[in-house]
Amino acid sequence: MTTTPPVCNYEGSDYQDSFWEKGGRAYEDACEALALKKLLPARGAHLLELGAGAGRNTPRYTGYEKITLLDYSRTQLEQAHTRLVKASSEGTRTRLGDSQKYRFVAADVYRLPFVEAAFDGATMIRTLHHMADAPAALAQVRRVLTKDSTFILEYANKRNIKSMLRYLLGKQKWSPYTAEPVEYLELNFDFHPAAIRAWMRDAGFRIERTITVSHFRLALLKRAIPTGLLAGLDSLAGLTGGLWQLSPSVFLKTTALNGTPEKTKAASCFACPACREPLEDTPPLIRCAKCERTYPVADGIYDFRLDVNPS
Ligand SMILES: C[S@@+](CC[C@H](N)C(=O)[O-])C[C@H]1O[C@@H](n2cnc3c(N)ncnc32)[C@H](O)[C@@H]1O
Repeated sequence: MTTTPPVCNYEGSDYQDSFWEKGGRAYEDACEALALKKLLPARGAHLLELGAGAGRNTPRYTGYEKITLLDYSRTQLEQAHTRLVKASSEGTRTRLGDSQKYRFVAADVYRLPFVEAAFDGATMIRTLHHMADAPAALAQVRRVLTKDSTFILEYANKRNIKSMLRYLLGKQKWSPYTAEPVEYLELNFDFHPAAIRAWMRDAGFRIERTITVSHFRLALLKRAIPTGLLAGLDSLAGLTGGLWQLSPSVFLKTTALNGTPEKTKAASCFACPACREPLEDTPPLIRCAKCERTYPVADGIYDFRLDVNPS
């Protein structure tokens, strides 16, 4: 088995609460909602949400019949799952909706536990950000999609106005203009738009649309201007995304090229993340007939993490 890069650990993290709910990020959240609204297809069968976290964006994927939330952190998935149970029991159904529609999978993006062409859509929001080997991650995403699937990717842009100014004023050592990723914190990467474009092409995706997002990510503006208005202005500024990308966050709508046009007919879509053998969906334990690894399914979460489930 080849080795893969380390995973940025969100196990036990209160990311959703501290970063989003209490972190003053209503503006960024609203901007992302507007961008997704512009980019998501009206309809689809089965969407894979990569690095789903606590399911912040999941209710936005309204056109899909089924959604698989994938994250390496089991506790993030538990939070997403709990929201669903809580919303249902309170009769509000404000978030994830019906459990039949959602599937929760703990696994590594570098070792997706699915057969080829398992999905006809995918999103990856604020997650490429943690990939030390972005091309390898993108190749995995392409592998599990049918031809003509829509893949929406968000990436953190190293060539944004703030980093260009900081570089100009000598407050930042790394250049925003060079193609290589910058790891400004361990396992936190910002990418150059040209590098992303080249990797997407090499992975087999055609970029259909580019939207720049969060242009006005400044505490002063966020305090002074109502969130809805600022997000609306951001949405207008994002229309130039195909021409230049100077914002800290960029959304791409892409189409998967080549490969299998039909979604797999396999009943489960699961494949062993170690040896790629197709797997039967047999909770509470899934066993690989080829390499004999076993993977538990507990409290509604499939666990395909290899370090948690060694051979
Ligand atoms: C910044 S959070 C974003 C969560 C969500 N997409 C959102 O925008 O609210 C990044 C998520 O990616 C997950 N992640 C990081 N590396 C991963 C990997 N190699 N495989 C699967 N998930 C990963 C983390 O566990 C975390 O939940």
